[in-house]
Order: sequence, then C-alpha cells, then structure tokens
Amino acid sequence: MKILAIETSCDETAIAIVAASGDEKQAQFRVLGNALISQIAIHTEYGGVFPALAKREHAKNLVPLLEAALEEAELLHEDTQALEEETRDRISEILSREPGLAEAFFDFVSECEPPEIDAIAVTAGPGLEPALWVGINFARALALIWDKPIVAVNHMEGHILSALASEQPDSENLTLTIDAVTLPLLALLISGGHTELVLMRKWLTYELVGQTRDDAVGEAFDKVARMLGLPYPGGPEISRLAESVRTRGETMIAPFELPRPMLSEATCDFSFSGLKTAVLYLLKKNPHLSEEERGHLAHEFENAVTDVLWKKTERALSETEACTLVLGGGVSANTHIRRTFTEKIQNDYPAVALRIPSAALTTDNAIMIALAGFYRANRKEFVTDLAASGNLSLA
Ligand code: KG4
Ligand code: ZN
Repeated sequence: MKILAIETSCDETAIAIVAASGDEKQAQFRVLGNALISQIAIHTEYGGVFPALAKREHAKNLVPLLEAALEEAELLHEDTQALEEETRDRISEILSREPGLAEAFFDFVSECEPPEIDAIAVTAGPGLEPALWVGINFARALALIWDKPIVAVNHMEGHILSALASEQPDSENLTLTIDAVTLPLLALLISGGHTELVLMRKWLTYELVGQTRDDAVGEAFDKVARMLGLPYPGGPEISRLAESVRTRGETMIAPFELPRPMLSEATCDFSFSGLKTAVLYLLKKNPHLSEEERGHLAHEFENAVTDVLWKKTERALSETEACTLVLGGGVSANTHIRRTFTEKIQNDYPAVALRIPSAALTTDNAIMIALAGFYRANRKEFVTDLAASGNLSLA
C-alpha cells in the first residue's frame, strides 16, 4: 500500500510517500519520497510560532513539496488532465481560505497523471488549528481530484510509531520496520504542546496515565531560553549551553538550585510553570549573569526537567508494569534526556525495552504520519468529513 502523508500541525510543512506492507505484528515501510520545509527561521523573529504566518507558509509550501515528493518517488508523470467544471468549483471552495493555493493546485494537478497511491494520510490534530486546516483542505482537494480515500492521523500517534520504527541498513530507500513490540507500552510524549504519559495495552488503543497540569516541557524550555536571551526554539539552545557545562566538568559547581515540581506527589502528572517562574525570580534577583553563570542555570534547569520526567516515568512504569518504554516528541531530541533514560533503563529496568526515535524522525515530519496512516488505512478507518482538532487527544 502506498501512502501519501501530509503534516502541517505546527511549523514544519512536510509531505512523504511511503510504501508500506505487513500487519500490526510486523510492518515494513519504504520511504519513496520525503520533502519538508521548516519554518523555524521565519518564526525565530517572533520568538515563537505565529499561527497566521504558519498557515500562510504551509499554503505556499504544499504544492512544491508535493511535486518534490512525487518526483523523488518516481510517481510524477506529466499528462494534461481535463478538469470538470463541477470538480473545479468544489476544489476552489475547499481551498478558498488559503489565498493562492487553489491556483497553484490547479496548475499542478492539471499537468500530471493521478499518481499510483492508495490513500492520503493527514494530521488532523493536535496542533495549531489554522495550520492543521491547510493540510486537511489540501488532502481533501487531492482526494477529490485523484479519487483516493483519506485517513485522519493523530500527530502524537505518529511520534509514538516513529520511536518504534527501526532503520534497516543497506537499502536504496530509507526502510523502516515496526515489529516485536511488547505490550503494554508506556510512552512519554514531550513536545512544544504536550507532556503526557500514555499507556498502550492493546495495539493503538490508549489510556492517559499522566499529563502536565500547566506548561508543556518544550514550552518551558522555550520560555526559559527566551528569559536567557536565547533564540527560538529554545530547547536545542539550552541543551547546548548545559552540555558545554558538562563537558567542561563543572557539574559539581552548582550556584543555582531549582525546584523539582510535583516529585513528592503520588501522581504521574507534571507541572512546569513553577519551574519556569523559579527561573524568572532567580534572574530578577541576579540580573547581570555572566555567560558562565547562564550556562550553569541552563544546566540546572535541564537537570530539574530531566529529574522530574524520569521520576514520573519510573512511577508510571511500576504502576503499569509496561514492557516497552517509548520517548517521543520534539523534546526527545534532548541529549541529556536521551542519555539519562538510556542509562536508567539499562541499570534499573533491564527487562524494559526503551525505544527512542532516530534523530531524523524526532522532530515533526510526514514519515511519522505515513506510519500511523498505514495502520489506520489497514483498518479501513477512512473518513469523509474531516475537521482540524487542535486538542485532539490519544485517550
Ligand atoms: O514535536 P515538536 O517538533 O513540535 C510540537 O509538536 O510541539 O517539538 C518542538 C519542541 C520545541 O519546544 C523545542 O524547543 C523542543 O521541542 N526541542 C527541544 C530540543 N529540540 C527541540 N527541547 C529540548 N532539547 C532539545 N534538544
Ligand atoms: Zn510534534
């Protein structure tokens, strides 16, 4: 089955084409085409993702990305297509909220054969609704003109599945397999909008074990980075500062101490706004930190976050008796978090299989949407009426 997947939930516009086979026990994915444009540089100026701008950029990027992905997948065949008046009108209506998109869409589809794909997968949520709508409407227009079914994908399920995917070496295309997953599976999902512990007892069925009561971890990283005068997105910047303190071997000098919120509470929930406020007060009291002191603060912040994430995950592991632990979402790119979890699992929970996405699959992309799209299409979960759902949850 060939899946064309579309991701526009936040600040990455991405389209991938993946040939998938197998079933829920053992599946294989060959990435035939993968095209992505990151808007990070554009949003950096605003210190965060600006929804109206994200929406405009997605609308501008989708047709060129579709062309690039189809071309790479060798599925782009030139041919003049006659468009029926009625179809044209319906598509104009579907794409009417995105200025310029309908024109670019018609220019493209009227010059190429409908590609040999079996289904279109699109992120329906969670994310920024104006941004999600662009991808959804684009998917609806493609489905209509090429007569293909659509599956709606939960972005967070994509993050879980990309952590479970292992890369197969020696193949011409990037090839991923998902197999031998032992349930129950516990996933710690950490991103700019999410911090949650989710349990999968049955394949692709979820229960919420814990979640943040206020800020998401990525949001805390981004806000603290901003307080330290670092650019958006702040996670990688804080990580860089903190790692340089570790490599200089200065970890014993701890001039700052930050709280580890909610650690003593008997719950798997998180809270990060107090930690952020603690940094704010600390900076108010010490307004002229040297570069070195800022490094120590970043280091202590990263340690505090990691301590909380690990302790809550440990609690959830013992409560759920999970056999597999997944780390997913943009923050799982963090070196210190990856290292800490790897060491802790190796030393204290050797029977638990830890699955962390490869670097390329950690940040938002459309391959992860294709993985989820495959399982959903295999279950024939096709949709006709599709809406963006900013708060879509797994459980
Ligand atoms: O999953 P993602 O790409 O987008 C959302 O769905 O939110 O996650 C983005 C978040 C941002 O808050 C960013 O600062 C954070 O992931 N992030 C990191 C790192 N790389 C990205 N946080 C900590 N350390 C990193 N290395
Ligand atoms: Zn994400």
